[in-house]
Amino acid sequence: MRILTIETTCDETAAAVVTDRLEVLGAVVASQDDLHRRFGGVVPEIASRAHVERILPVIDEALRRADTRLADLDAVAVANTPGLAGSLLVGLAAAKALCVATGLPLVAVNHLQAHIYACRIAAGQEVFPCIGLIVSGGHTSLYRCQGPTDFELLGATIDDAAGEAFDKVANMLGLPYPGGPSIQRAAEKGNPQAYRFPRAFLHEDRLDFSFSGLKTAVRYTIAGPGRPDFAQVRLSEQQVADLAASFQEAVVDCLVGKSMQALEQSGMSTLCVGGGVAANARLRQRLDDEARRRSIRLFVAPMRLCTDNAVMGAIAVERVKAGRFESLDLEVFPGVVRKPTGAG
Ligand code: KG4
Ligand code: ZN
Repeated sequence: MRILTIETTCDETAAAVVTDRLEVLGAVVASQDDLHRRFGGVVPEIASRAHVERILPVIDEALRRADTRLADLDAVAVANTPGLAGSLLVGLAAAKALCVATGLPLVAVNHLQAHIYACRIAAGQEVFPCIGLIVSGGHTSLYRCQGPTDFELLGATIDDAAGEAFDKVANMLGLPYPGGPSIQRAAEKGNPQAYRFPRAFLHEDRLDFSFSGLKTAVRYTIAGPGRPDFAQVRLSEQQVADLAASFQEAVVDCLVGKSMQALEQSGMSTLCVGGGVAANARLRQRLDDEARRRSIRLFVAPMRLCTDNAVMGAIAVERVKAGRFESLDLEVFPGVVRKPTGAG
């Protein structure tokens, strides 16, 4: 069985051809980082326009790489939740158009479930039930995942997502977008203990996150209170490195700490971690150490499947096997539903 998967939830235009055995026959990701860089973050209107321009060439290229014709496909899958409304609409419209033209069935993909499923694809073995940590530019949440499409929200950020905090702090430090990789690079030469930044909720039972106070603490440290003009701030290379390392350590402490609490509270012993920030080397190292110490089965999405991609849309295989197809009335659901057992 071959499924075409389409992903346009945020600022990556992606398509892939996958099989029911989770083989990847061909995959393409067209990143829009260059378009959003000068704004220091994703501009939704620019993202959806770029998706419109790229979606058909990206699908064509994925099919070409997979040596697959439309007639060889068994289904078309598309991420329809959560994400930016305009971005989601482009992928959904393309998927529906293909279904109308070919008569293929339409399958819905929940983007958050797909981020965790990236772990399942790479593991080559069952990973459910597990605690799922999804940590990206738009989300920072912990789920109890009974199965690939049966998630229950345990906690989430009450303000900024971790990736968003990386992007904003990078901007304050004069480091390029996307901020995650830039901060990681700068932090390599920095002292994570140089500055003591807040770790919200870390010693409370709740499984939520908050990064806006941390962001403000970094801002005040760099330029004092008020509305500073960061262009006027002069930091030495060492200061930038120390600030980056100390900020990164605070985020990682929260992500690792809350994941361990979720495992303890649920009595589960498997942790799956996905999303763009899961690419962070310090986070991966700290998760690894903690998992070894506590005998936890840890699955972190491989680097190529951390940031948005269509390969993780292979979760559609689970829905095809269960006969869960959608009508062409399927809509986009930009927000997060508390218990996304379905795909919207
Ligand atoms: O999953 P993703 O591609 O998009 C969303 O669904 O949000 O995640 C993008 C986010 C960005 O905020 C980026 O700064 C962050 O992932 N990111 C990282 C790293 N690589 C990407 N954050 C920390 N360390 C990294 N190495
Ligand atoms: Zn994502």
